[in-house]
Amino acid sequence: MTSHPTLHFAPSGASSTSSAAWQALLAHRDGIGECHLKQLFAADPERAARMQAEACGLFLDYSKNRVSDETLALLFALACEARLAERRTAMFGGERINLTENRAVLHTALRRPADQPLIVGGRDVVADVAAVRERIYRFAEAVRGGNWRGHDGRAITDVVNIGIGGSDLGPLMACEALKAFAHPRLRMHFVSNVDGVQIGDVLRTVDPATTLFIVASKTFTTQETLTNAHAARTWLVEHTGSEAAIPRHFVAVSTHADAVARFGIDPANMFGFWDWVGGRYSLWSAIGLSIVLQIGAEGFDELLAGAHAMDRHFIDAPFERNLPVIMALLGIWNVDFLGAPSQLIAPYHQRLHRLPAFLQQLDMESNGKSVRSDGSPVDCQTSPVIWGESGINGQHAYFQMLHQGSQLVPVDFIGVLQAEAGLEQHHRIAFANMVAQAEALMSGKPADEVEAEMRAAGLAEAQIRALLPHRVFAGNRPSNTLLMERLSPFALGALVALYEHRTFVQGVVWGLNSFDQWGVELGKQLAARVLADLAAPADLHPHDASTAGLIARYREHLAERQDSEKPAAGHTEQNQAR
Ligand code: F6P
Repeated sequence: MTSHPTLHFAPSGASSTSSAAWQALLAHRDGIGECHLKQLFAADPERAARMQAEACGLFLDYSKNRVSDETLALLFALACEARLAERRTAMFGGERINLTENRAVLHTALRRPADQPLIVGGRDVVADVAAVRERIYRFAEAVRGGNWRGHDGRAITDVVNIGIGGSDLGPLMACEALKAFAHPRLRMHFVSNVDGVQIGDVLRTVDPATTLFIVASKTFTTQETLTNAHAARTWLVEHTGSEAAIPRHFVAVSTHADAVARFGIDPANMFGFWDWVGGRYSLWSAIGLSIVLQIGAEGFDELLAGAHAMDRHFIDAPFERNLPVIMALLGIWNVDFLGAPSQLIAPYHQRLHRLPAFLQQLDMESNGKSVRSDGSPVDCQTSPVIWGESGINGQHAYFQMLHQGSQLVPVDFIGVLQAEAGLEQHHRIAFANMVAQAEALMSGKPADEVEAEMRAAGLAEAQIRALLPHRVFAGNRPSNTLLMERLSPFALGALVALYEHRTFVQGVVWGLNSFDQWGVELGKQLAARVLADLAAPADLHPHDASTAGLIARYREHLAERQDSEKPAAGHTEQNQAR
């Protein structure tokens, strides 16, 4: 961890909830809370046209939220009161806004055009970024062009990214999303789980002579990643018969050159980045090497350009037309004023199927906090549970709960207008379902309509009475719909940056440091102790009775397995006699 000689914690200020804007929203909520979305639409024919915004190729319809113009005005006032504009300037300018780690937060510099220098601590960080990117592009071109060869001279066919969290989720999500732009020879694999199954499955399918491993870890200390990397290294040496193959088959992405060298990867085969790139914000850095390998330098430039366009929009657009600001404030409205404990991400495009998992880390690791930047406790709800998968699959699994469950779950529907070649009808069905789900959640189906439908179908009166409560949809359930023309690198860049800034805005309003993640540390510390205890004959560390029982059960299992694997005494003697 970085040392922090001077911590410039924000002065202890009023909490979010005691602010005038928050109190005004609370009072306002009591008025609008019961108003059904259907009534809001009926009373205002211009609502849909007004409650939409567009930027960087992304169109947002947010009219199906339980808000009026007054709600929005109050939410914008809340953002102003939280000094959002000032905080935004601080982040983009490279101030050390990650207070507990004394770090700047500059993922936006990773996609800043090379001719726009940004001097931080006396260095032009944009020039540093461009220099590393240049090396990455050269390396990727060599691999893609078949000029970077494996130890026996054959071209690389398989790339295995070994990493976890931000060193896995972003590249994996982007490589899945951009498969239509993939290099025809290169197959991408991602290994994050330390259980051994995932890497085992991958190693069974690849040829050691044509496989390139990327060990991706910001810290290069992450247990899961290093365990998998060592397994891959051993496998390669076993199959090639020599350590000499390692430089042709292993590269690293990290901020720690010394740790990379200790692992045995030549620093010449390492691509660096900086402590001001948070793991969950790192796909734009060298961590995106697998993305560059898949879509090439041109494609990656487009991805960066999309994200940069969204950065500019976030800086320049007034709050009332600012996509990240609008989405963030609506999220706060839903969580803190309407009591929604979670937020569903529903992409209606198979290639976006890892987006919810990526956004889970982005949002929940950033804003899953209960103290503010100044250490005072928060007095409102912060990060909701982010969840989801491909929307169409969700319809046949958990959408029942969205429509009729007892919890309010706001949904972000994400749709792509252009079908992939030859699949127009498939695409139209998916798109129709997405639009219909948003409509159904919003309008619902009232008792009189359900009753009339059953009567028309000839159901008996008693049946109608019994079924009626089960078949009514209350509606009034909020959603956003985000559309893009096509799933291009540019659109994906803009989409991810949109969610990054949405997370930032929410963190500002809640008064959080969105860029540290102390909550992951305790589990790591205890895992080290438990690991030692699993291998020992008895506990070396004190544990509660439940934990001790689980460890004991593992040890018993191990002992039984070892016993059963011991050759029977008679059997061994017979073998010796032969
Ligand atoms: O444990 C959480 C975390 O630190 C994430 O924030 C990070 O993205 C992930 O682990 C991986 O870390 P590293 O890139 O250092 O291996």
